[in-house]
Amino acid sequence: MKVTQSNKSLLLKGGKIYDPVKGQYRNEDILIENGKIKTIGKVTETNTMDVRDCTDKIITHGFCDIHVHFREPGREDKESLATGAQAALAGGFTRVCAMPNTNPPLDTPESIRFIMEKQKDLPVHIHPIGAVTKQQGGKEMTEMASMKEEGAVAFSDDGLPIADGQVMRLALEYSTMMNVPVINHAEDLSLRGDGVMNEGKMSTRLGLPGNPDISESVMVHRDLELAKLTEAILHVPHVSSAKSVQLIRAMKATGAKVTAEVTPHHLYFNDTALENYDTNLKVAPPIRTEEDRLALVEGVKDGTLDCIATDHAPHTIEEKEGTFDTAPFGLIGLESSFGAVYTSLVKNAGVSLEQILDAMTIKPRQIMGFDTDLLMEGKEAELVVLDIKREWVFEKTHIYSRSANCPFVGEAFAGKPEMVLNGTTIVEISK
Ligand code: NCD
Ligand code: ZN
Repeated sequence: MKVTQSNKSLLLKGGKIYDPVKGQYRNEDILIENGKIKTIGKVTETNTMDVRDCTDKIITHGFCDIHVHFREPGREDKESLATGAQAALAGGFTRVCAMPNTNPPLDTPESIRFIMEKQKDLPVHIHPIGAVTKQQGGKEMTEMASMKEEGAVAFSDDGLPIADGQVMRLALEYSTMMNVPVINHAEDLSLRGDGVMNEGKMSTRLGLPGNPDISESVMVHRDLELAKLTEAILHVPHVSSAKSVQLIRAMKATGAKVTAEVTPHHLYFNDTALENYDTNLKVAPPIRTEEDRLALVEGVKDGTLDCIATDHAPHTIEEKEGTFDTAPFGLIGLESSFGAVYTSLVKNAGVSLEQILDAMTIKPRQIMGFDTDLLMEGKEAELVVLDIKREWVFEKTHIYSRSANCPFVGEAFAGKPEMVLNGTTIVEISK
């Protein structure tokens, strides 16, 4: 991957531009100058321009991932904001939201300011998500309003569920005053018990403790009811089960302000993939059955699941080399995201390309209240160039995270991000 900074004029010539705001394509050139879109239209080349032939390529908004775990502060040996930004660029992302389960957690206005200051110098926009409770302890609320003022875009104790229903209710109530989403990692810990994979035939066969789908759906149900009651914006992260999809679909039908995300790994794998005891597939919530996976695909198709988010969760090789019982939960997914989603949804399930592009661009931006109208003259460049015809195998060499816990290594993908433009940053992604 080659990352350069350039104020030079850059001409993306002959591409097919997909504008997710209008849901339309147009065949135009894009001229970028000083990191801003100068012209969208037919542009005549001059010899001062750096010209890229984009024939047969799709150009659209840089991807936005509203659920990543960068481990700064505290575990920069797993991922720092800087290495996380490289992983994001390698996946075609220009903007991400970082979860607060760092060490210490992002639970004060100062900690939010720390991320905001650090991300300024990085080539990817990183928005911090503030913790709901102090120390993510699940009891005492954080100073949400001051954290929002410092730049927190949402609130979550992700990594840990908000077990206490009253705390969740309060968080939702406070969030309505700030008009920001609350995101709860929905897993009832008592039902999950010591489960390390989905409870079912496969867990029995592998002799591993199971985590039932209802550990997710009972808490999703509680959260949906509370969101309805408080009229708050609830965002349900990493939906993994058919039961949760049904509940979200039903609550959305009542007009509640509920949104939901699904990860590439829950769309791509089912629990039979765990037969080799690959700890990189140990993740919370777990990879579930093929029926669950198909329900997630349906959820994307009918819009019940609004957006795709990676839940990029780096862990060290040493930790992941432990047994399936002892390894930590989490996998990295920024670099492999588009290939996994294009392959599992567009190529293998008949979902339209536009729908997955929307789920990786405009939908996550809408959920977080970010600017969505990017394909306009004068706007800072935030673009990705995609080669959807490309067939490729995802290899270790495609990983730019500081960690390597990626179950997609060795998978054959269709569709690949090729280039990213984020302001004056120009990224040529590895072949
Ligand atoms: C995440 C992590 O490691 O921070 N792990 C995971 O398995 N998803 C936490 C989380 O998102 O729940
Ligand atoms: Zn989570």
